[in-house]
Amino acid sequence: MKVHQFDAVIVGAGGAGLMAALYASREIKTAVISKLYPTRSHTGAAQGGIGAALGNHEEDHWEWHAFDTVKGSDYLADQDAVDLFCQEAIEAVIELEHMGLPFDRTPEGKISQRPFGGHTNNETGRPVRRACHAADRTGHMILQTLYQQCIKNNVNFFDEFHVVDLIMNDGRPAGVVAVEIGTGEVHVFHAKAILFATGGWGKVWQITSNAHTLTGDGNAILFRRGIPLEDMEFFQFHPTGIYRLGILITEGVRGEGGVLLNDKGERFMERYAPSIKDLASRDVVSRAIYLEIKEGRGINGKGYVHLDIRPETVNKYFAEEGSDRRIDREYVESKLPDILDFCRTYIGIDPVEEPMPVQPTAHYGMGGIPTNIHGEVVIDENNTVLPGLYAAGECACVSVHGANRLGTNSLTDLIVFGRRGGQAMVEYCKQADFVPLPENPAGEVEAELERLRNASGKTRVADLRAEMQEVMSDYVGVFRLEEGMAKAVEEIRELKERYATDLHVDDRGNVFNYDLLEAWELGALLDIAEVTAVSALARKESRGAHSRDDYPKRDDVNWLKHTLAYQKPDGGIELKYKPVVITKYQPKERVY
Ligand code: FUM
Repeated sequence: MKVHQFDAVIVGAGGAGLMAALYASREIKTAVISKLYPTRSHTGAAQGGIGAALGNHEEDHWEWHAFDTVKGSDYLADQDAVDLFCQEAIEAVIELEHMGLPFDRTPEGKISQRPFGGHTNNETGRPVRRACHAADRTGHMILQTLYQQCIKNNVNFFDEFHVVDLIMNDGRPAGVVAVEIGTGEVHVFHAKAILFATGGWGKVWQITSNAHTLTGDGNAILFRRGIPLEDMEFFQFHPTGIYRLGILITEGVRGEGGVLLNDKGERFMERYAPSIKDLASRDVVSRAIYLEIKEGRGINGKGYVHLDIRPETVNKYFAEEGSDRRIDREYVESKLPDILDFCRTYIGIDPVEEPMPVQPTAHYGMGGIPTNIHGEVVIDENNTVLPGLYAAGECACVSVHGANRLGTNSLTDLIVFGRRGGQAMVEYCKQADFVPLPENPAGEVEAELERLRNASGKTRVADLRAEMQEVMSDYVGVFRLEEGMAKAVEEIRELKERYATDLHVDDRGNVFNYDLLEAWELGALLDIAEVTAVSALARKESRGAHSRDDYPKRDDVNWLKHTLAYQKPDGGIELKYKPVVITKYQPKERVY
């Protein structure tokens, strides 16, 4: 076992991890540990834009961005955090520009912005151009830019090291344990400050825009170490994934004028959101697609609808709406090159000639590791800080996304709170000492890895994972019911039992043993699935992405509060709640 020592250790090399590393490494000895090569992190899959009220095309204000974010969140976001987030979004985007990020440009040379779901002019209610973009590769460009900056800044990277445990000593974080994937060797990273930026957990569901690696590792590790998980019942289904594959088709398609059509050729969003139609918030659009499909208006009666970006269709609707915008084939090719490429490559459809088949796809966790606005992890209803432990990005819950995130706010979150986390770690490390490592710091997780390596039951990892995904998709998806969620809790617990007693792992070796590491990841997914189902079952209302047929209304009297889920010593889950911070936006009914 090798032991390393750094002031700050950051787990995960997506946008939040790299931004934190960039800031921390300016003043303290910093390491980034990632199970991937950094530029393969899932930030690279973010397409349509990063939200900031620059007002480069038309009037916009951070206050409008804040109101849209709170409304989109179905009033569950903490409003003090949202105000700060939307103000800092502007300088964060300018900072990326100054680092060299190749944004698309307006004819005058400003950063180009496009409309996106739920982004509005608060006075007219009409869509506003707020999504700053680099074609449909915005996340990819952010990742490349930040990685270059980190290399320039001499950040210490441990690529393809899989973090599997948080080391605690006397209730204080002391470091992490990682497996070097290429050799199987176990490493201990002793640190004063540890920041988790491990991304999402979309692999809990069958159809997802998330990469195979998004298994909620950071959330599960901290949960097992007594840290609560906040608002895990709120998981966003993006309206437009490629049918059956789940690959993301950016909301930017609709921002550029694309429309959703059912089997009758109706632009059905006119019925569900008469004011902003296809650009309503994601929870609203995903539910509308499901209802169209359920009522038999999916294309040819199947489980998908069409997303149409053909210039003739789009221009017809622009003209009908009295807009002077028009698009042509060249415009679509320049603004949405990756989308065209994905459809041409994976489904043999050219979106400038034919509409795309789409269905909602599991996309983003609004909940996660509870933090304050400095990225410090908080552990109870009173927001008590656990010194030395930080989280940022999708794995964290500040909470600025509440019950439903607005498109583009994920990238903004990475940059704003990654930076804040990096800055906070610097201040902490300047005055803190190392918490001593306990005896045998990797012992517990090494024992679990050995159990998995030698697992010789009858159930294969892929099969158990598929069963979990089916249960969660059937019962804890876009629409939910008491009976189904209760069944999901019971079935996930049975799957956990089989995971503990009947798993089969073939590869007993050390070198690139993905068989073993996927088995470990499945354990994380099962923990997250259980927390999600238990938290969802308890919340007896519909709010944002949590939509119950048996409690169809939002209930601010009883449920305007955040869930905190804790692992009990016997392995069960205990739920507690903490209040939502309301400042100037009083909860109202959402109308789009
Ligand atoms: O639709 C998209 O491009 C996704 C963006 C997001 O999740 O923010």
